[in-house]
Amino acid sequence: MIMKKIKIAVLGADGQLGQEFRHLHQSYEYMSFDFFSRDDCDIADQEEVRAVLLSENFDYVINCAAYTAVDKAESEQEECFLINAKACQFICNAIKGRHVRLVHFSSDYVYHVYNGFPLKETERCIPSGIYAKSKLEGENIIRASEIEALILRTSWVVSSFGHNFVKTMLKLGKDKSELNVVNDQLGTITYARHLASAVLNIITAMTSESADQSLFNQTYNFSSEGITSWYDIADRIMKDEGLSCKVQSITTAEYPTPAVRPLWSVMAKNKIREAFGLDIPHWFTALKECLLAIKADQ
Ligand SMILES: NC(=O)c1ccc[n+]([C@@H]2O[C@H](COP(=O)([O-])OP(=O)(O)OC[C@H]3O[C@@H](n4cnc5c(N)ncnc54)[C@H](OP(=O)(O)O)[C@@H]3O)[C@@H](O)[C@H]2O)c1
Repeated sequence: MIMKKIKIAVLGADGQLGQEFRHLHQSYEYMSFDFFSRDDCDIADQEEVRAVLLSENFDYVINCAAYTAVDKAESEQEECFLINAKACQFICNAIKGRHVRLVHFSSDYVYHVYNGFPLKETERCIPSGIYAKSKLEGENIIRASEIEALILRTSWVVSSFGHNFVKTMLKLGKDKSELNVVNDQLGTITYARHLASAVLNIITAMTSESADQSLFNQTYNFSSEGITSWYDIADRIMKDEGLSCKVQSITTAEYPTPAVRPLWSVMAKNKIREAFGLDIPHWFTALKECLLAIKADQ
């Protein structure tokens, strides 16, 4: 029997996460993908979003597009809110009433709560800073719209694509003999490939006749397992890669940035694990796989 392929539109397809969907898509032969970079679809342009999302009968829209320059956002508030919040309304308006589901990504920054326990999705949100506030507003717009949306709050995204902490540390580790890295922000990295693969596995699970469809329209945390700090990660990178650069531990207060960072980004993953039976890797595995992918791309 020939089954109809699941049609998926990926927005923001040239970012770290978007490129991971490009990388993985051939392994999911029962899905067909259309990838839209910023040039193909500017999500801040309501008419363009509408035209692109109406151009095919998509079953899912995966929105990887975002304003992610956390510090720059402090001086570009309008642009940040346009992309991270208002554009969510444009996407919702375009797909509303058309049996299209949205997958959207948010951030650990929305919580900004230090309680010493893994943050549950039910935790209160007291975002600090423009980026964090814009991400929460984007979530709220989506939840208030009448579409079905899976919102995934993720943290510390790394990949062989784009710019991220792991790639920066590798470069600095080769160029410098000593590096100061913050040791009092606690959380875990998320390997973007693991996140993309979790999304595609969730979409696959939803095709089962016995799937509980109500599990889709919810907000979930997703990051690697474990707890670490930027210092720990940097130190491990230097050791694993045989780099002689010495990593020195400093505090957030010693490394001031325009946007305030949460000191606690440890998120509970029980909800997503139990809902979809996901096997979430530890950050050691996430880092190892990311480093291998970076080497493979060189
Ligand atoms: N990176 C992290 O550490 C992190 C942490 C927590 C949550 N998240 C969330 O995870 C998601 C994916 O992040 P990422 O790391 O993949 O980010 P990324 O690498 O910065 O990619 C974002 C992509 O969105 C594109 N974009 C920006 N404005 C756009 C617009 N108006 N229309 C269309 N595309 C636009 C960017 O294009 P340009 O390059 O041309 O600007 C870029 O390709 C985002 O929702 C982000 O907020 C990320």
